[in-house]
Amino acid sequence: MIEKGTLLSDTKLPSVRQISSMLKINSVTVINCYRQLESKGYVYTKPGSGTYVSTSLSFNYEKSNCDKNVFLDEIYPNDDMFLINNGQIKIDANTINFASSTPTSDLFPVEDFKLVLNEVLDRDMGNAFNYQESQGYYPLRSSICTLLKNYQINCLEESIQIISGAQQGIDIIAKALLNQGDYVITESPTYTGAIAVFKSRGAEIADVDLDADGINLDLLEYNLKKYSPKLIYTIPSFHNPTGISYSQQKRKNLIQLAQKYNTYIIEDDYVSELDFEGKNFIPLRSFDNWDKVIFLKSFSKIFMPGLRFGFMTVPPKLKKHILEAKHSTDISTSGLIQRTFDLYIRKGLWQKNFNNMYEIYKKRYLKTISTLDQNMPQNVLYHRSGGGLNIWLSLPYSYMVNSLLEYSTSNNIVFAPGGIFYSSAPSKLNNIRLSFAAVPIEKIEPGIEKLCTLISRFYK
Ligand SMILES: Cc1ncc(COP(=O)(O)O)c(C=O)c1O
Repeated sequence: MIEKGTLLSDTKLPSVRQISSMLKINSVTVINCYRQLESKGYVYTKPGSGTYVSTSLSFNYEKSNCDKNVFLDEIYPNDDMFLINNGQIKIDANTINFASSTPTSDLFPVEDFKLVLNEVLDRDMGNAFNYQESQGYYPLRSSICTLLKNYQINCLEESIQIISGAQQGIDIIAKALLNQGDYVITESPTYTGAIAVFKSRGAEIADVDLDADGINLDLLEYNLKKYSPKLIYTIPSFHNPTGISYSQQKRKNLIQLAQKYNTYIIEDDYVSELDFEGKNFIPLRSFDNWDKVIFLKSFSKIFMPGLRFGFMTVPPKLKKHILEAKHSTDISTSGLIQRTFDLYIRKGLWQKNFNNMYEIYKKRYLKTISTLDQNMPQNVLYHRSGGGLNIWLSLPYSYMVNSLLEYSTSNNIVFAPGGIFYSSAPSKLNNIRLSFAAVPIEKIEPGIEKLCTLISRFYK
């Protein structure tokens, strides 16, 4: 992997203990291997710190045939996933990447954005580079209120908080509301980045199973009674990683329970608009008569993730705390980006870009589904989500998906193993999350056919 450049220079390699327990080999063997690698110049050691990939062998990343845009994006806190931890692994151009749920840069509307950016610079000059108010640029908040009407959400500029991505949104909500030892309820499994935030705040996570139509309400109520959590974190439409969506009834019941047990809901909407089968989900926020829902919107999957931009609607009682948390985190989201995004919406370019992304993703979704239907190995099931970017496969219970990943990686296919999406050691290790966001349409069919063959072969 070092020779291929898959492991970048100065990447920290796993500890001797980690490797020996992962591969079930003696630690002396690992020490000897690391010594040999060091004597050949592949790695160097930092006393007291660990073993690192050599700088001298430095792989020329720019000249390589690697797609720079397919670094894995999500946070994988699991030890077994050390190789892709924090985007340290990069995937070469021959590998089909079903692990990343982020669009590749060829889909970004760079030319349109450049024109709008220049217009903003001519119009606002130095003002575009000043501190922006912490709550966000007022005209943009206004544009967002208009945009939200498409989601059946009515709200005023006062309740919008601009954030530097939904990940920051989760972080500042946690910062504002959670103390060490407070409980948060999440679905099980759930988005790894949310787990990482709640853990980093010292919160306890009570995870609740998902049924085919959303969270299991009996278990939820049991946990609400038992733990009196401060927050419920949920992804009700095209859930990450399972693709499950809540029924309308469950959406309403969830809010009633939040009201009954006096807690708040974070509604993480990262792709609800990627609705390919006319599901027309209504966000929890539009049923929220008690100001219990914080509606959190990411644009990373349908726009450009590197802009680090998103927003949330904040219930009046939380506004002050969340604003303070935002201010102490980064004062404000980039004013230049906010102004540019505002003009981009006002010129109708947002809608144009969305229509384009929607068509591309829809074709990929349909191709993924039809290829799975034709090639699905025996005893493997998948959930037909109707939208979003992920398909969740359930393999036979005894299946070791982490080992399958090693096997498929060596055959140039990567996916996200289901085990990483649990907040505690999962009892189930037999799921795979397949994302088609970063896979060009022509690679979907051969990629899935190959993966299905590998699954059957590996099982035998
Ligand atoms: C469910 C979910 N929420 C939030 C995020 C973070 O989004 P952003 O890039 O807007 O911070 C992601 C990213 O993958 C996600 O999958």
